Amino acid sequence: MSFLVLYCRSGFEKDCLAEITDKAMLGGVSGYGKLEDGGGVVRFYPYGEGAAEKLTKDLSFSNLIFARQWFVATEELTDLSEQDRLGPIIEVFETLARMDVLVLEHADTNDGKQLSKFCRKFSNPARQNLRKKGLLASKKEECHDGGVRGHLFFVTGTHVIVGQSTIQNSSQWEMGVPRLKFPAAAPSRSTLKLEEAWLQLMTAEERMSFLKFGHTAVDLGAAPGGWTWQLVNKGMKVWSIDNGPMNEELMATGQVTHLRDDAFTYRPKRPVDWMVCDVVDKPAKVADRMLRWLLEGWCRYTVFNLKLPMKQRWAEVHRIFERMDEALTEKGIQYELRAKHLYHDREEITVFIRTR
Ligand SMILES: C[S@@+](CC[C@H](N)C(=O)[O-])C[C@H]1O[C@@H](n2cnc3c(N)ncnc32)[C@H](O)[C@@H]1O
Repeated sequence: MSFLVLYCRSGFEKDCLAEITDKAMLGGVSGYGKLEDGGGVVRFYPYGEGAAEKLTKDLSFSNLIFARQWFVATEELTDLSEQDRLGPIIEVFETLARMDVLVLEHADTNDGKQLSKFCRKFSNPARQNLRKKGLLASKKEECHDGGVRGHLFFVTGTHVIVGQSTIQNSSQWEMGVPRLKFPAAAPSRSTLKLEEAWLQLMTAEERMSFLKFGHTAVDLGAAPGGWTWQLVNKGMKVWSIDNGPMNEELMATGQVTHLRDDAFTYRPKRPVDWMVCDVVDKPAKVADRMLRWLLEGWCRYTVFNLKLPMKQRWAEVHRIFERMDEALTEKGIQYELRAKHLYHDREEITVFIRTR
């Protein structure tokens, strides 16, 4: 019976499982999970023939917060022979749809990382053999925008989970992690968080139309300016709110006004296009302030972090989003909310909201 494999940050397996269990249940599918604390991967076994496939059709991957990637696993091969790893793998793929691409992956853990060299080495023979058998598209026909992705998720060099995902309804990045280069001119590494948020939480079309030259933005908890740098880089005029010092080169652009105000009481003189917030505080307190901005119409788009130091992170996030939904709906505000536990996030998740 097939099952779901979901990758997450090490230490967040229980949250990832709690979320998929709840969301599957809403669609009428129940199941049970298996995880190892710190293992960076969750197996979810839904009850019923074809239930795993159904879940990946009914649920939208972009609505999952704690999962970096998912696929439907057909077989877990626990005892591969080092002499012929490919034979049993090919046998499994022979029962499945022809693939457009194939990825070889492992958990994002210290143990998992030991497998990255092996995965790189094994990828060529695996792809060549699957192509010879007509099970994988040729290099020329490879398609990364649609179709079927094959997954070989290695637990050890002789233990692999074999399965497939729909390219359109999964993460486009290997292991669900976009590889971003730290921009040398940015004042802090946090800059990558906002860049990743825009990549993970918005479509290419949305980035084109929501991140425009001439837009205005407020950055709450801005110092030293990693997030402000991203906004400035898009040609925006930014009000950066923080008691701490801002990076001098960034200030020299002339696009930034630094205000030593409190992020929780500051309000803009006129509505702005963007408000971003990277303040470290209680998630409910941050969410309430974000809500106020949206209810008052002080911004149209927002990206903010919710720190989650508690044990039951999914339950807390769920509660917060329900409260936000009630308040926005009551005021007749239509909105879209997407949230993700980004690769560059640690004990927090990042949220994007757009009002209409
Ligand atoms: C994680 S850092 C922000 C890093 C920033 N996003 C960057 O990319 O460089 C959090 C910032 O929030 C600021 N902060 C915390 N509480 C604040 C408050 N109540 N009002 C304004 N700033 C606050 C801190 O001074 C700190 O600079």
